[in-house]
Amino acid sequence: MKTVDINNIKIIIVDNYEQMSKKAAAMIEAQVLLKRNSVLGLATGSTPEGMYQELVKKYQENEVNFQDVTTFNLDEYYPIASDSPQSYAYYMHEHFFKHVNVREHYQNIPNGSNTNVEETCQAYDRAIEASGNIDLQILGIGTNGHIGFNEPDVKFEAGTHLVELDEETIEANARFFEHIEDVPKQALSMGIRNIMHSKKIILMASGQNKAKAIRAMLKGPVTPELPASILQLHQDVTLIIDEAAAGEL
Ligand code: F6R
Repeated sequence: MKTVDINNIKIIIVDNYEQMSKKAAAMIEAQVLLKRNSVLGLATGSTPEGMYQELVKKYQENEVNFQDVTTFNLDEYYPIASDSPQSYAYYMHEHFFKHVNVREHYQNIPNGSNTNVEETCQAYDRAIEASGNIDLQILGIGTNGHIGFNEPDVKFEAGTHLVELDEETIEANARFFEHIEDVPKQALSMGIRNIMHSKKIILMASGQNKAKAIRAMLKGPVTPELPASILQLHQDVTLIIDEAAAGEL
């Protein structure tokens, strides 16, 4: 393991995906031990799968208890039914919630099936604020530098909003669908304000295909064209990345 700071961001470089997953799980465990009623911001996708596995193991071994924890997921496809196997609601259930004791009422994911998008987004923002904001936000990063589904744009979006997914994101996520045409073209995502109001942020990345985005977010200008670059302005961000993702630093 190596540690280095770049532009106010703490970076932990580990050998591989497994070590990244273990480190991130250890940090969530510590957060919940220190504050039982923590508000956790959660991500989906390939990156955090191993972290969820580690957390489930810790829960089964009675090392961590999620009884008083509240969770907010970053994003959800739109439109999608929550019981669709491609929905992030389904992902969270399969990888995490069905194995641990986060209370159902305390699990929050943007509602991808409400046709009133405005209402869904405002309700999500209000719920995050009412919880006192997120204590620890877990992020992955897109190959185009997106966080949540905040895609490269000419401006940063503040609150939860409807997003037109980038072609690059649709291609990257096609692996979870039978045909690329089945990937929804839109999603609901927390905005940059929601993410920046989190007290602590952990961003995980594994693999060479993330190396360019990691370099740009750390060493490039802060710009909505590379949404993750905004994290240079947050006071408590830790990156946990493997050697391959750190390959261009
Ligand atoms: C998922 C999310 C996205 C992913 C990113 C990387 O909830 O917010 O920003 O973290 O697209 O995806 P993977 O981990 O599949 O490479």
